[in-house]
Amino acid sequence: MTTAASFVTQIAPATRMANVSYAIRDLAVVADQVARQGHKILYLNIGDPCTYDFPTPPHMIEAAIKAMRDGHNGYGDSLGEHSAVEAIRRRAEQRGFKNIQGIMVGFGSGEVIDHCLTALVNPGDNVLTPCPDYPLYGAVLGKLSAEPNSYQLNEENGWQPDLDDIAARINSRTRAILLINPNNPTGAIYSRKTLEGIAELARQHNLLILADEIYDSLILDEEQQHISIATLAPDVPVITFNGLSKAYLVPGWRIGWAVATGPAESLHEYLEAVYKLLRARLSAPHPFMYAIAPALDGSQEHLIEVRDKLRRRRDLTVEWAARTPRVTLTAPHGAFYAFPKLDIPEEDKQFVTELVQQKHVLCVHGSGFGEKPGTRHMRIVYLPPEDVLGEAYERITEFMAERY
Ligand SMILES: Cc1ncc(COP(=O)(O)O)c(C=O)c1O
Repeated sequence: MTTAASFVTQIAPATRMANVSYAIRDLAVVADQVARQGHKILYLNIGDPCTYDFPTPPHMIEAAIKAMRDGHNGYGDSLGEHSAVEAIRRRAEQRGFKNIQGIMVGFGSGEVIDHCLTALVNPGDNVLTPCPDYPLYGAVLGKLSAEPNSYQLNEENGWQPDLDDIAARINSRTRAILLINPNNPTGAIYSRKTLEGIAELARQHNLLILADEIYDSLILDEEQQHISIATLAPDVPVITFNGLSKAYLVPGWRIGWAVATGPAESLHEYLEAVYKLLRARLSAPHPFMYAIAPALDGSQEHLIEVRDKLRRRRDLTVEWAARTPRVTLTAPHGAFYAFPKLDIPEEDKQFVTELVQQKHVLCVHGSGFGEKPGTRHMRIVYLPPEDVLGEAYERITEFMAERY
């Protein structure tokens, strides 16, 4: 007799999915197992400020609710609701952007990044991506059968991009240079000299610059200044990504955008290709687009408290690293990440896996972001309150003391 089970066949995923990985979530699976055993995990792994003591500005919530009450519950404009696009344009112009050729609003900056890469690369093309890198870029390029062409961020030079390495890696299939500034996972902010060097390489080799600036309002030290590369190179095509998730404390609303700058003639055809993808998926979440103008044009008061809290938590992290054997930290100046170097004999994935299993502290291994061969790191998200961070750091110190 034939049983129903004998008709079951595997639905094979596309082979290109073998190229896609996402370390941040992978380790969360281990943490879930530990949590199911009844342990309370201290989460230092996900860049979501709403998980901690960073409440969304109330006027943004009011704006979103009002939009729903006003009936903005259908599909919105595919490229972005008018008041939102104008607010993004104003913000970009205030910050010195010139030659703005297009603005696109999406489901978080992540969706816009996906479309901007999809419209750019053919299979076999490559994009210069930083090492270490925020893993979304490698995952999307993998999905497109294109290659991350990893250039080194130089830990000995405050994690600035290594310009010689970028120059050496450019080849006939290179389409773009990506920079994440302020950086995830290192917390570095790029100097004018670095940015001018990158712009010059893009100019010489006819490359698009992709500038991920989602953390640009989270600069923690007054002497550090965030410079948008688009403002230094109005003659170079640049796509700058930003959004509400981080500084405006609504990652769950999924609102992000891109601003395209540079010569109209070099961007026209490419932007039309991106718009085609945006039209095909109809629109970003419509009512939440009505919170963009209130967020960008309204009170920025919340940012003072956010930065104060982050500064204290960053300092606590730097102090812990300074007094802990085998840990060396290049101090972060922006965003809410630290990427300390670990002088340990085992792979860093093993280190963080056993750390969560034994001490119930969850960080992500450096190799999940990419790192120089032979080096070991972990990424710490220092969003949690000081008492939680203090407890987590004590447990990591204890874990290391027991181990080595
Ligand atoms: C560097 C960087 N870019 C983009 C994103 C995606 O943000 P969203 O899609 O919420 O705008 C993140 C999220 O952590 C990030 O760290």
